[in-house]
Amino acid sequence: MIENLEKLRKEVLEAVESAKSLDEIEKIRVANLGKKGTLTAIMKGMGKLSAEERPKVGAVANTVREDITNSIEQKFSKIKKALDDKKLKAEKIDISLEKHSIIYGHEHPLMKTMKELEDLFVSMGFSVITGPEIESVENNFDALNSPEDHPSRDMSDTFYIDKTTLLRTHTSPVQVRAMKKYGAPIKMVSPGRTFRFDDVDDTHSPMFHQIEGLVVDEGISMADMIGTVNIFIKSFLGEHIETRWRPHYFPFTEPSAEVDVTCHYCDGEGCKACSMTGWSMELLGCGMVHPKVLQNCGIDPEKYTGFAFGMGIDRIAMVKYGISDLRLLFDNDNRFLNQF
Ligand code: PHE
Repeated sequence: MIENLEKLRKEVLEAVESAKSLDEIEKIRVANLGKKGTLTAIMKGMGKLSAEERPKVGAVANTVREDITNSIEQKFSKIKKALDDKKLKAEKIDISLEKHSIIYGHEHPLMKTMKELEDLFVSMGFSVITGPEIESVENNFDALNSPEDHPSRDMSDTFYIDKTTLLRTHTSPVQVRAMKKYGAPIKMVSPGRTFRFDDVDDTHSPMFHQIEGLVVDEGISMADMIGTVNIFIKSFLGEHIETRWRPHYFPFTEPSAEVDVTCHYCDGEGCKACSMTGWSMELLGCGMVHPKVLQNCGIDPEKYTGFAFGMGIDRIAMVKYGISDLRLLFDNDNRFLNQF
């Protein structure tokens, strides 16, 4: 019987060793250790043995059972682990796969220009004050001494919301707000969006940006205005840039002027872009604040004088960065924006 047991141990261990699947192992287990299994049957038959033989055979049978059980367990875990590894490998996520790359935003050249302008004016002692884009007709026109029949008040020039409200056509109403709120003396700039009924072309857009400047104090003269504007233009656009002053009319300043700067394409030589004049499109309007405007805003024109200027930030950005078409600023095309 012991011989049979040893034979069984050898056979089963070999069978387990060469088993390739969990199924095979399970079959071996059932065939040997199961209720109707070979080893179980041998053990059951031990009752027939003599009292002398029984413990000897029993001891061997126990080691056989242990060996078989152990080898089955080991082999089972080995195959299970191999299967798990295979599965893990198959399910591995390849993190090196290309993902959609993130397109980073970029500071807009207009906002950049606006910030640089603010910084420059702050360094010259100006405060920055902003006003609303939806304005009263009163602040946009009346308080600024604009006559009822002035062409800029026309429906075809201005976006009215109703009879008394509109999208501001310039940043000048912030002059009114600031003077009414803070009185004199005052030295401020006001950047922001403005709106006019313009068709879109390379130098026009119905929405554009301006920066307004206002200085009111005792004894302010035209020399202060010309000096301030010239210093600003040279610091911002370059020492070589000259200004040309042309008399102009604005209802809220008297006298008034428009200022051109050296053409940025030809440096004043004369080219196609400046129609051979050497001067680029007008950059700003300015003038001495009209006494009536001071009065409308509660400031004594006998005591105080002042100057004001307003310029297109879009145009300044075009001159500064050599942009030939205003529309590029509003197209939001990254190929363009990333250049700044
Ligand atoms: N508001 C004027 C415009 O939009 C510019 C300006 C501002 C002129 C201040 C004089 C003084 O054209």
